[in-house]
Amino acid sequence: MPENKKIVIAVDGHSSCGKSTLAKALASRLNYAYIDTGAMYRAVTLYGLRNNLIANGKVDEAELTAQLHQIKITFRYNKVTGESETYLNGENVEEEIRQLPVSRNVSPVATISEVRKHLVALQQGMGMEKGIVMDGRDIGTVVFPDAELKIYMTASPEVRAQRRYHELKAKGEDISFGEIKANVIERDYIDENREESPLRKADDAIVLDNSYVTPDEQLDWAYEKVMERLNRNGN
Ligand code: DC
Repeated sequence: MPENKKIVIAVDGHSSCGKSTLAKALASRLNYAYIDTGAMYRAVTLYGLRNNLIANGKVDEAELTAQLHQIKITFRYNKVTGESETYLNGENVEEEIRQLPVSRNVSPVATISEVRKHLVALQQGMGMEKGIVMDGRDIGTVVFPDAELKIYMTASPEVRAQRRYHELKAKGEDISFGEIKANVIERDYIDENREESPLRKADDAIVLDNSYVTPDEQLDWAYEKVMERLNRNGN
């Protein structure tokens, strides 16, 4: 790998298509930082739930916006698991932000313009020194429009629902394949059709449809793209 040269890698795409699996593995192989921006929207949602700013699916937008400055989100590396974990005002909330109450309420929080502006500014700050892999929905379009490598991931709704079905069944959840597939399709619709920074492929992003690709194969493919970018820049 060319010495010293570091780039920004944006990984965007549909929900449940393995963005974080690829982004984490790529960051680890490159010795780059990995930032899960979905976790940041989830942490703001958890703050809102805990402070009674979200009730019955309705968000008190004005109050949540007014309190944004007191929501501190950080990531810390856990040496034992080898994973980065999300902290909300100094508390490890990595598990709680993945649970149902947050999952159910994060979509409306992610549509609030002030929340997005606040988190985008934080994300841009994290990428200032490059050497970062960031995954989300608007990384290549809004957060880092000049990222040296943009990957847009997708997989068919059937394949994504199948993967999610196996994950949830393994956890003992009682849910049908049909329900999961409907949820995958609904989340795609919300992500692609919201007014604020909808999910869309940046013009210069490379599409990775991983319906029939293994995690190892997609990692090798992405690593090769990184090497091409590093070499193309003449370093
Ligand atoms: O990737 P995820 O499921 O953890 O994302 C949680 C929510 O946040 C989901 O509703 C999409 C939204 N999100 C977003 O709007 N922009 C991002 N950069 C990342 C996530």
